[in-house]
Amino acid sequence: MSTLATRIKLNNDTAIPCLGFGTYKIKDPVEAYNSTKTALETGYRHIDTAAFYENEKQVGQAINDFIKENNVKREDIFVTSKVWKTELGYDKTLAAFEKTMSEIGLDYLDLYLIHWPASYAFDDDWENTNRDTWRAMIEIYKSGRVKAIGVSNFLTHHLKALMEFDIIPAVDQIEINPGFLQEDTVDFCQEHGILVEAWSPLGRGKSLDHPLLKELADKYGRTVAQIILRWEIQHDVVPLPKSVNPDRIAQNANVFDFEISDEDMEKIDAIEPYGNSGHSPDQAD
Ligand code: A2P
Repeated sequence: MSTLATRIKLNNDTAIPCLGFGTYKIKDPVEAYNSTKTALETGYRHIDTAAFYENEKQVGQAINDFIKENNVKREDIFVTSKVWKTELGYDKTLAAFEKTMSEIGLDYLDLYLIHWPASYAFDDDWENTNRDTWRAMIEIYKSGRVKAIGVSNFLTHHLKALMEFDIIPAVDQIEINPGFLQEDTVDFCQEHGILVEAWSPLGRGKSLDHPLLKELADKYGRTVAQIILRWEIQHDVVPLPKSVNPDRIAQNANVFDFEISDEDMEKIDAIEPYGNSGHSPDQAD
């Protein structure tokens, strides 16, 4: 049986825990510290932050304190951060990484991601901007200060421009929730050995009242959130649920002792499309 600490091998020598703790929108410093610490105490071994979340410092502090207080090794915890879309391009990405490292206070990151692609709506040379940014990511990776590099919100056409490099993304973190499986991108990634992570795996709460999901929650004796996270795991996607509530943090971690049948997986796959929560990656300015 998998657990929160069970790892999936990436396309290099690194492996990633199969469920992570998301910290988007936890801007309040005390809340960011406390919820990260609670997640680690609950057994999460994978923490996802970003420069844009404005909580790298508190997230890093919680990780360092947890390591010291519990005699845990740094290698047991998988930590991700991301370069924001105003910092794309070779030089700016290198500088953004230095800022992240001084904020987060860790010796290395497990994963560093390009948060959003340059998009054709706002950048005539979007493919080259993404390539230049990727060159910086490769340099950071080769320095040994990150164990893996990847992207976020990249659709197939964004990914294709990076497939010509010797080192391709290890991960693509995209929005996935019931009604928004993004099969084209997931299929492309899985065919090319790129692991898919799900941001907003619970659809920011909007899926929690869905009648089919409620029916399945009753059938399996689980909460709707647990059904959704389990559905993502069975699609070989790594969900990153966010919560500031200790009970929900624990609930979201308790998804490894049941299995959704193939028939019910297909029913969830067929939930009517909701579309993006925010703007599409092709409209990222
Ligand atoms: P809270 O932080 O108060 O728990 P997503 O990860 O899809 O973006 O969803 C995050 C939203 O879902 C947050 O508003 C969070 O609120 C809420 N949430 C997280 N876990 C659960 C859960 N198990 N049940 C209900 N709501 C949840």
